[in-house]
Formats: sequence, structure tokens, C-alpha cells
Amino acid sequence: KMTALIMAGGRGERFWPKSRKNLPKQFLSLTDDGKTMIQLTVERILPLVAMEDIYISTNKDYKALVLEQLPEIPAENILCEPVGRNTAPCIGLGAVHISKKYEDAIMFVLPSDHLIKYNSMFLNTLRDAAETAKENTNLVTIGITPDYPETGYGYIKFNPEVSNHRAFSVDRFVEKPSLEVAKEYLASEEYLWNSGMFVWKVSSILSKIEYYIPDTYNGLIKIKEAIGTAEEEGVLNREFHNFQSISIDYGILEKSDNIYSVPGTFGWDDVGSWLAVERIRKSNEFGNVVTGNVITIDSKDCIIEAGKKLIATVGMRNVIVVDTEDATLICDKESAGDIKKVLENLKICN
Ligand code: GDD
Ligand code: MG
Repeated sequence: KMTALIMAGGRGERFWPKSRKNLPKQFLSLTDDGKTMIQLTVERILPLVAMEDIYISTNKDYKALVLEQLPEIPAENILCEPVGRNTAPCIGLGAVHISKKYEDAIMFVLPSDHLIKYNSMFLNTLRDAAETAKENTNLVTIGITPDYPETGYGYIKFNPEVSNHRAFSVDRFVEKPSLEVAKEYLASEEYLWNSGMFVWKVSSILSKIEYYIPDTYNGLIKIKEAIGTAEEEGVLNREFHNFQSISIDYGILEKSDNIYSVPGTFGWDDVGSWLAVERIRKSNEFGNVVTGNVITIDSKDCIIEAGKKLIATVGMRNVIVVDTEDATLICDKESAGDIKKVLENLKICN
């Protein structure tokens, strides 16, 4: 049985000010087809997973958005976290819900805010990964060949000599290395990026959670017992608040063995910052990517997104300008990764 958990509880901070606390990146449309990123994520896996076996985990604050954007998903498959505890508890919650329905199943874990260009190649990669995930307690991650030393990703050192179906055995998993280390990895040509997409049996990931994060496991089991009863919400609330906030990458993958990676080439983009817009949308003859009512004079290589007002730039190079109703961003492209610092300041002020 093939099932999927789509993780949609992130805040998308590097996409501010278009991505907001009440409307994060996964609920925005960044492509020309008008579909939101989470809608595209669901559409993409439908050839492999039936609608009724797709689960969405998100924060309770986004429940209405999910219902509105994905009316075909059964409401009971929308799993609402009372509080954000990062991806390990999120995946655990998905796993216990799926295991309540099926004794065991293959579980595709997918972020809700990535873009993929070549869908049939993507599906083939997932099928390959599932073959390996069926055996033992193998955990399979989808790997991507790196082309620059990104420090916001996990790195996978794989062993090209040891393979299972189309998956390679992973020697080491390193989440978000320093720039220096990332450069070394890139030069060595022995590493893949972790795409943040995983394939495993529900029973495999639950046994790893039990081993590496036992307190969370105990809480998850209580949640599982309460599913469908009058106590469900109360138990979920209580247990979730007590969970340690930790990502699946730090909590399990860095520590575990039996990890495999299937390298995929399907035009993956994690749309990590405003710079991704240049890869998604075509720039004009001056290298500008403009949306809305924009006039550029002697401006080059800019990303400009107008809201209701006209934006005019004169003599600008390499800037990002994004205007919304109540906030305007003006940012040097080199500093696009620092946008979330604005939000840290906003939090302090509020
Ligand atoms: N439901 C839920 N609850 N979803 C969450 C939560 C949470 O508490 N936290 C994050 N998510 C969702 C996000 O919306 C996103 O779709 C996905 O989980 C991954 O979270 P990110 O916060 O975007 O992780 P990351 O980008 O720092 O790192 C991960 O992805 C990289 C590739 O994009 C890691 O897996 C890295 O190893 C990987 O390289
Ligand atoms: Mg991400």
C-alpha cells in the first residue's frame, strides 16, 4: 500500500513579505499556472497514491487554508498540530495515523513547498525508492547532485559500491554543514543533497523514533490510541506540547544506519529564497524578472514584484523589490538568505 504525508507546517520565512505567518509559501502560487505549491504537490503524486491515502500535516492555524485549497482530501486526513515541533513529531503523527488505517504501508514523505519540473522522472525515482524501502527497516531519502555549496541543505555521503535496487547505501548524513564543509563536500563529488523527501515503511520509521526519540514515541502511541475517540484532541494537545522540537534530519537520519539514497534528476527546486524566482520565471532581455505594474529604467538583473502600487526602478542592479499591502522588501540579491532576520526583528518589536 502506498501512502503519502505532505508536510505543510513551515513558515516560509525566506519568502517574506509575500509569504506571511498567515499565508506561508506552500499556500502561494509561484508558477504561472496559478496553482499553489501544495496543490501541485498533491497533483504530482496522484499517479502513485490514491487521494484517500494522502495525509497533510500542518499547524492548526492553517487548517482552513488546507481545506480550501485541497477540498478533495478527506478532512480526517488533515492532521493539525497544536504547536510546531518540527518535522520529527510531524512525521511521527502521520505515521501513527497511517498505521491506524493500515497494518503497514509505504509512506512517501514530501515537503509541500518544492517545485519539480519532470514529473514522470520524479515518480520513477519514488518507485525505485519504494522498492528499497520495502526491505528490512531501510530508510530511503531522495538525493540530488549538488551544484553549489548550499549550507541550508542536508548532505548525503553515499557509497557507489553498495546498492539495493537503484538506491545507494549512505555512509553518512550531515544536516546543514558550515560553508567551509559544504565546499569540501562539493569538491569531493562524493555527496548528494538531501531533497527532504523520504520513503519508508510506517513500521520502519516508527521503530527508529522509538529507538532515537523514545519520549516522542510514547506520546505518539497515546495519540494513536485516542484517534477517533472523544479524547483525541485533548491527548494530541497534551502530548504534542511535550514533544521535543527536532527535525527528522537531526533526530534520526544523522544517527541511524540502514539509510539509502536514490539519486534523482527531475528538475528539483526547493524554492528556498527569492533567488529561486529567476529559475522559475523567465527574465526579460535586461535580466529582470518582473511581476505586476513595474517600470524599469537602466536596471538590470533585478527581481521586482509589485502589489497594488506601481514600482519604478532607475539605475538599479541586483536588487529584489517586493511590495505588498503592508510591507515592502528592498534587498540586495547577495543577502537574500538573510531575509528571515527581518522577521527576528519583527518578533522582538512585537
Ligand atoms: N507539519 C509540519 N510541522 N510541517 C513542518 C514543520 C512542522 O513543525 N516544520 C517544517 N515543516 C515542513 C515545511 O513546510 C517543509 O515543507 C518541510 O516540512 C521541510 O521543512 P523546512 O523547514 O523547509 O526544512 P529545511 O528546508 O530547513 O531542511 C530540509 O529540507 C532540505 C531541502 O529542502 C531538510 O530535510 C534538509 O536536509 C534538506 O536538504
Ligand atoms: Mg525547506
